[in-house]
Amino acid sequence: MNQETETVITDHGISVVNLTKSYGDTVLFEDITFTVEQGEFMVIVGPSGCGKSSLMRVIAGIEEHGPGRVMVDGRDVTDAHPGDRSLSMVFQDYALYPHMSVESNLAFGLRARRVPSGEVRRRVEETARIVGLSDQLKKKPGQLSGGQRQRVALGRAMIQEPRAFLMDEPLSNLDAALRVQMRAELMEFHQRVGGTVLYVTHDQVEAMTMGDRVAVMNKGRFEQVGTPEEVYSRPVNEYVATFLGSPRMNVLDAQVVQRNGAVELELLGLSLPLPAVDTALPVGPVRVGLRPEALALVDDGSGRAVSGQVEYVENLGNEKIVHLRADGHDTALVARVSPRPIAINDRAAVSIDVERVHVFAPDGTAIWHGPRA
Ligand SMILES: Nc1ncnc2c1ncn2[C@@H]1O[C@H](COP(=O)(O)OP(=O)(O)OP(=O)(O)O)[C@@H](O)[C@H]1O
Ligand SMILES: [Mg+2]
Repeated sequence: MNQETETVITDHGISVVNLTKSYGDTVLFEDITFTVEQGEFMVIVGPSGCGKSSLMRVIAGIEEHGPGRVMVDGRDVTDAHPGDRSLSMVFQDYALYPHMSVESNLAFGLRARRVPSGEVRRRVEETARIVGLSDQLKKKPGQLSGGQRQRVALGRAMIQEPRAFLMDEPLSNLDAALRVQMRAELMEFHQRVGGTVLYVTHDQVEAMTMGDRVAVMNKGRFEQVGTPEEVYSRPVNEYVATFLGSPRMNVLDAQVVQRNGAVELELLGLSLPLPAVDTALPVGPVRVGLRPEALALVDDGSGRAVSGQVEYVENLGNEKIVHLRADGHDTALVARVSPRPIAINDRAAVSIDVERVHVFAPDGTAIWHGPRA
């Protein structure tokens, strides 16, 4: 309730209050409430079909919705025309003016606002440089590649220097190298211009590297909103924990036991004493999350290590991803290790760093994170 009240009185950035949308009987999202602070870069990340674009279209005012309000810079724009919301948009299906050159597409909004022509020229040139299209200015959109068209759309939004941006997968059509470069350009631009940005992606690297805060969306709900560090190190549930991170987190069934006053985790036949646990961990069944970096290859499979057979090795050059089938268990563990000779069918053992363990209740709610998780 408090959060709701706060959101309503926020007078900057973009606020969404109890927003709901359905198609027929299908609820697409329900009761979504959040604020992007003035100048903040907030990223919504989630799997395909979870409702990201629908949410963005509703905020932009180009799609109908159910109950709920949208505020931009303190103004309630829920019933405002899309062009009257002080929002600039770059969407997945970037619509350019097909009959206009790249230059005119970029300049259009400025000319409509009667910005002096010298200033328009300067900003077109600068924007074209930022999005890497200086040598394409005379072409029409039909003469450009998909990635080039996407960059025109991005430039067209950036050139306006609006108070707030909505960006829906604006880099999705770019190759890996160009995507990294445009990511850096966008961040630099954001730091310089300082607008409020709500940015959608299904790419977790993009989310983690660009977002001041990240909202992890699943089936029309925000599972967690937090800084990249928070959502990665302190995920609120198993969904967030396994959605972020590549390779994904290992999650195993385990038991919490009390032994001689200490709390231990029993998994894969091991008993792992936990470091001083500040939370009361309930004795009984839990789920344990281990990121691949919380596992280390060890020479000796006895004691506190899991022995098994190597099923698969991904060699990434600077590191190897080892898939180990634990002896006597139908469980594959994925470990991230430094380069070393290891091959499929080798015998190997991994140790578990208990300080980096995540513990979830059987329903997936996080109940404990290791001090170095
Ligand atoms: N006009 C529509 N009528 C009915 N269902 C729709 C309509 N538009 C979208 N949907 C459904 O709503 C859900 C969410 O779609 P949306 O485009 O918002 O997903 P998304 O998170 O943006 O996915 P992606 O990452 O693939 O772009 C999907 O299941 C989609 O099939
Ligand atoms: Mg989408």
